[in-house]
This record gives sequence, structure tokens and C-alpha cells, in this order.
Amino acid sequence: MEGPLIKRIKLEGGAAAAAGGAGTGHDAQQHHLAEQQQAAPPLADGDPQQSVADAQGQAQPPAGGGGGDPQQQAAQQAGAAPPLPLPVVPDNTYMSREARHIERERGGELEARYIKNDGSIESGRLLIGLKNVFAKCLPNMPKEYICRLIFERRHKSVVIVRNRTQVIGGITYRTFPGTPAARLGEIAFCAVAQTLQVTGYGTRLMNWTKHYAREMDGLEYFLTYADNNAVGYFSKQSFTKTVTLEKDKWFGFIKDYDGGTLMECRIHPTLPYASFPDMLAKQRAALEGEVKRYTTGHVVHPGLPHWKSGGGPLPIEEIPGVLEAGWSHEAGMLHKGYQIAIGGQILDPTEDHLSDFMWHLLRKAQKHADAAPFLAPVSAEDVPDYYTIIIDPMDLGTMEERLASRRYYITLNMFAADFYKMVKNCQLYNGSQNPYFLAAKRLYEAFWSVMRSSILPNLEAAGIVEPKL
Ligand code: ACO
Repeated sequence: MEGPLIKRIKLEGGAAAAAGGAGTGHDAQQHHLAEQQQAAPPLADGDPQQSVADAQGQAQPPAGGGGGDPQQQAAQQAGAAPPLPLPVVPDNTYMSREARHIERERGGELEARYIKNDGSIESGRLLIGLKNVFAKCLPNMPKEYICRLIFERRHKSVVIVRNRTQVIGGITYRTFPGTPAARLGEIAFCAVAQTLQVTGYGTRLMNWTKHYAREMDGLEYFLTYADNNAVGYFSKQSFTKTVTLEKDKWFGFIKDYDGGTLMECRIHPTLPYASFPDMLAKQRAALEGEVKRYTTGHVVHPGLPHWKSGGGPLPIEEIPGVLEAGWSHEAGMLHKGYQIAIGGQILDPTEDHLSDFMWHLLRKAQKHADAAPFLAPVSAEDVPDYYTIIIDPMDLGTMEERLASRRYYITLNMFAADFYKMVKNCQLYNGSQNPYFLAAKRLYEAFWSVMRSSILPNLEAAGIVEPKL
């Protein structure tokens, strides 16, 4: 039976290996992060095969084995794997990365393996591959120490393997079966091959590790001393700096250690860690199904043929889907953000009130002292060249016809635009100093004076633009 092990270790070169045990010893590593990035040569072209090839030269027999060691032979087999291109990750979100790795798993390119040192060639081969990833990624960790922890028979590892041979990342953790800490796993090492980092492998690896730890070892918690530079990664894997597990269930079992940050992760009893995208897709479909029961936003109507045959304004309620979506004239007028002061009353801009207001504006204009030249269309007989210069004429009589149709001016802006056109035409034909235009200008100013004083709280709130002459 395994008793509590309490050892304060500080890794400095080989001293850590001498300290023994399953501690992470990350403090030495954390101090040398910057050097790690420069000193540790990258995997050739990002190819983890290179790390396996390197492994052949560097591989340490895990337990004093020699050249005939089956694990070493397995490592040599691994070296024959063909190079692989780096993954292309254009859409670098959590879920897209996870989904892409799942695709690769389904295609057989990737797999996550749960292994322990059971003496088989296969486990030895994979563990040596993992040892080489750790040796590269945690360069300040003595290789002997890494070997000892990885090949310790009570320790478990989860490795990500490409093309059945290439170990590109892994996590090694320790369990405490038969003790008060039986529900706990202590993560000793965690790494992904350098040139593959930050493309989602670390997340995939952690998800698989949680899955296997729960299914194979019955674990409910992970604790780890995270290197300070890796705290961000562990946080994103749901590790927190608050330890909720009762102290007597972990204290004295995991290594006490100077440096790093103690972090905990609770392993959910039912979450499908290895298939989050599937779960989320199902949740999304269920949610969308529910939403569709109460909304019509997903119903797509065909385009409107109305204007193909030159139709005029189309009442909004005749647009397919508008009424089904719950629109009504009243609802459409509510929340317009403005009101109209007319005849001593303050009114919402309903269709009727807008119409009343436009009639009010029109009558005022028609009665204005300067209105006479603008009451009816310009006579082509009286002014023969008028329609060669003015191609889009407008006058108060035409505006009255349009207003009377009740279908033309569906907004105040449209009404004001016709008024503006009438005045601008006058300016265009007569010039800015002509008495007709000066009269039109006075008419225009009177028109906007009523507009400004009648629209509450102001024109801007109503979305009405006053075009400058
Ligand atoms: N610091 C902060 N955030 C990080 C770090 C980091 N060092 N590494 C990754 N992340 C973030 C990523 O940006 C990503 O965030 P996002 O989802 O918002 O985009 C998220 O963590 C997941 O990133 P992955 O791509 O899934 O992780 P990656 O494949 O890079 O693996 C790991 C992370 C294992 C830390 C890797 O970078 C590594 O091997 N580093 C060197 C070795 C190391 O430091 N190991 C941990 C030592 S502590 C211990 O072993 C207990």
C-alpha cells in the first residue's frame, strides 16, 4: 500500500532526479522559459517524426536496459514514419480546432492512447516517443527524471499519436488507488511537440486525458503544479487556482513543491469530453428546434414580383410573412421614437396622424403668400424650354394628388423630398438670385419651420433630414 509521500524538491540539474518520486519539479523549467524557446531546436519543419528520429539518438533506456531493449527497438520502428505536413488551421477557434482534430481521429490520422508501462513493446515504444516530446518541451527537466516518472508502473499516460507511430504530445499522471486520494490524479508532465503548439492539440489531449482518467481510473479531480507560463493553458482547460477537494484527500499525497501554481480541475462525471462538438451540435439543433416552434424567422418567402410589372408602393401588410411575424399598423407605429404636435394635440405617428400632418403642411404651403407659382405644374406652353431643363418636375398640386392617393407618401421624408425637389427645380431653372427662387426659398423655410416645431422631440429623433438649399 502506498503511503503519503511528502518531499519538497527543487530541481537543479541532476539533483531533481536524485530527489525521486512523482513530483513535477517545474520550477527549474519556469525560470528558463525564454531560453527554452531559443535553446531547444525546433522539430524539423514542424515534423514530429524528427522528434522520433532524435529520440533514437537520445533515447535513454528507461530502467537500465541496453541496446537489445524491446522499447528501444520500438523507438527505432517509430523513426521510419513518413513526414507529415503541418495542420492548416485557418479558423482558429476552440470548437473549429477541436472538430478538425476529431475529423483526423475519424480518418485514422490521429488517435489518443491510454498507456502505462505494462512491459509490452507497444507501450514502450509510445512511452519513449512521449519521453522525447517531454525532453524537448521541458528541456530543464533531466531526462532520467522524465524517464523515471513516465516508466513508473503505477503512472498513466495519455498520448496523441499521428499515423499510429508518431507521438506528438502527452500527459503523464499519477494515481493513488486504495488511499484517501483515490479520486485524485496528479499531472506530472504535459506537453505538445513544439511546432504543433497552439493549434488545439493541447486541448484535445487534455479532453482525452479527462475522459480516460474518469473511465479507466475512476478519477474525479486533477491537481497539478502548473509552470507559471502554462497557467493560461491550464485555466482554459478548466483548471482553477482554488482547490476544492478536501485537504486530507490530497495533501501529503502529491508532491509539495517550490514554484509553479497549484491548480485543480474537477472532472465532470458525465460530460462527453472526447466529443464536445457533437454534443454542442446536438444542443444547438435542439435549441433551434425549440426556437422555431415560437418564431417565424427561419421561414424564407420568395422574392416580391410586385415591381416587375411596375407596381407602385406596396403596403407593408401585403408583403408575405409580415403579418405572420406579428406586425400590425399599431405595432409598426409604436416605438418610432417621435411624436407629432398637431392641432394642439401630441400624437403618435400612426398612418392616419402622419397623413393629417402632411395635409396640414400642404395646406399651409398652398396658403402661403409666395405659393402662387408653385400651386400647379409649370405650363409648357408658357415656358417652352422648361421641360428640357427640368426633367423631374414637382409642384404642390402634384403633391396633393400623391397625398390624396394615401399610398404614396408612406414617410414624412418622402413628402419633404418632393417639396425639396420643387424648390431645387426652381433654383435650377431660374438661378439663385431670381425672384421666383427667393419666393420658393421663403416657402421652403416656412415649410421646415412647421416641421421643426411639430416633430417632437426633434427631427433627428424622427430620422427626418432637412436638406439644405
Ligand atoms: N500560456 C497561456 N495560454 C496558452 C499557453 C500558455 N503557455 N499555451 C496554450 N495556451 C492557450 C492557447 O492560446 C489556447 O487558447 P484559446 O483556446 O483561447 O485559443 C488554449 O490555451 C489551448 O491551446 P492549445 O493549442 O490546445 O494548447 P497547446 O497545443 O499549445 O498545448 C501546452 C499547451 C501543453 C502548454 C504546450 O504549449 C506545451 O507543450 N508547452 C511547453 C511545455 C509546457 O509548458 N508544459 C506545461 C508544463 S506544466 C506541467 O506539465 C504540469
